[in-house]
Amino acid sequence: MTLLLTACASAPAKTILLGEHAVVYGRPALAAPVSGRRARAIVSPAEPGHGITIYARDLDRCYPGAGGCVDGDGQFLQAALRIGLCALGCPSEDLDLSIEIRSEIPVARGLGSGAAVSAALMRALACSMKMEIDPALLSSLVYETEKLLHGSPSGIDNTTVAYERPVWFRPGESPEVIEVGAPVTLLIGDTGVPSRTRESVAMVRARRECDPATTDACFDAIGCLVARARAALEQGDLPLLGSLMIENHAILASLGVSSGDLDRLVSEAMAAGALGAKLSGGGMGGCMVALAQPGRTEGIIQALLKGGAVQVIRSHIGGTGQQTSGASQVQGGQHA
Ligand code: MEV
Repeated sequence: MTLLLTACASAPAKTILLGEHAVVYGRPALAAPVSGRRARAIVSPAEPGHGITIYARDLDRCYPGAGGCVDGDGQFLQAALRIGLCALGCPSEDLDLSIEIRSEIPVARGLGSGAAVSAALMRALACSMKMEIDPALLSSLVYETEKLLHGSPSGIDNTTVAYERPVWFRPGESPEVIEVGAPVTLLIGDTGVPSRTRESVAMVRARRECDPATTDACFDAIGCLVARARAALEQGDLPLLGSLMIENHAILASLGVSSGDLDRLVSEAMAAGALGAKLSGGGMGGCMVALAQPGRTEGIIQALLKGGAVQVIRSHIGGTGQQTSGASQVQGGQHA
């Protein structure tokens, strides 16, 4: 018998400050949750015999909890559900549940929307059973679903989404939460073009197979930038952080994962007074991130929109304006 309560939970988008792609090859990376965009899951008890239904509101789709002839999104949600329930020690056959998923995170833009949806769903499941999932466990469970989406991801997306704090991440090591020395405002410009992480990672892999020495030298250079950026972030040296982001963008462009749209938005942000800017995530589309200089935020947003960004998302690290993680029970429910 499992006591189920109606519960809702959420998880944030993520942005990579420095280090994408090189992190797949063991170098460190810095990432942070996006304060303004979250995925949400509501788990409620359903009528006995109903089984489990997952409503993906943004897609206007409804999936069974397991099986059926479902599309890729349905398979992903079913996998997240299966992995979450298994970790909670609760077989799905015993449950009658209605699960609703909503997300404010643009899909396929390098913002970790899949990881955030999985994390929100697993948190809501745990909360509905009056259980808790700590960030390390949540991260490892979400990683299992990330593998379905991205093949062999580094683990940075699930880590950032689960810890909901700026993190120093290196594959195979425990993530370190970073305390920032000064509030940071990030402006995330969305090119409107899907970023297919699996493809960009495969492209970099092919490049490395052809020219391992040059590609590894790029990864090493990125790793050095990330180490310096960590110190800059901790000391609140935002001009230095910004200049390291620009250097990182140049190396990513040399690896072939930028695009004309991303380069243009990076240039527009810099011309409008950003301290730094770079693509963020898999690249080849998706989003770029600009480090705003106090007093220049509105001008940078306008420049990004004029330069073709379909939307600009503000995100804050440190100071006020940071949302916290959340899982809450709403009301009592059923015994299944
Ligand atoms: C994706 O958000 C970041 C990449 O480095 C891939 C990964 O780390 O798995 C491109």
